[in-house]
Amino acid sequence: MPNVTFSNPSYKDKTVYAVAGSHVETVLKIARENKIPINFSCQDGECGTCLIKVSSLDAKGRMGGPLTEKEKTVLRNLGKLTAEEIETMELDDLPSPWRLACQMIVRDEDILVEY
Ligand code: FES
Repeated sequence: MPNVTFSNPSYKDKTVYAVAGSHVETVLKIARENKIPINFSCQDGECGTCLIKVSSLDAKGRMGGPLTEKEKTVLRNLGKLTAEEIETMELDDLPSPWRLACQMIVRDEDILVEY
């Protein structure tokens, strides 16, 4: 069971347990179920409102799988990642620190989510 710790300067950190490997639990869904006030709007990877910064708290960890095509577009448009950075991450199989909470599926690893 992965722990997801939500962190924001305006609120107390909150750690919640997520069901691993369900492949349907997005970070946003978990946040909403636990009354974490992450901003969101479209819930469909289009608007970028739910931007989060993710880091692994797991020594062996990786961060939740590759970016979706929608995330790549939005994160480029927001100026968070360049096309080159995205390409390097894909080639080297590196996780992105920037994600969209409505698109990122929680995997079996402990993560810190800054929102
Ligand atoms: S809520 Fe719009 S991109 Fe996530």
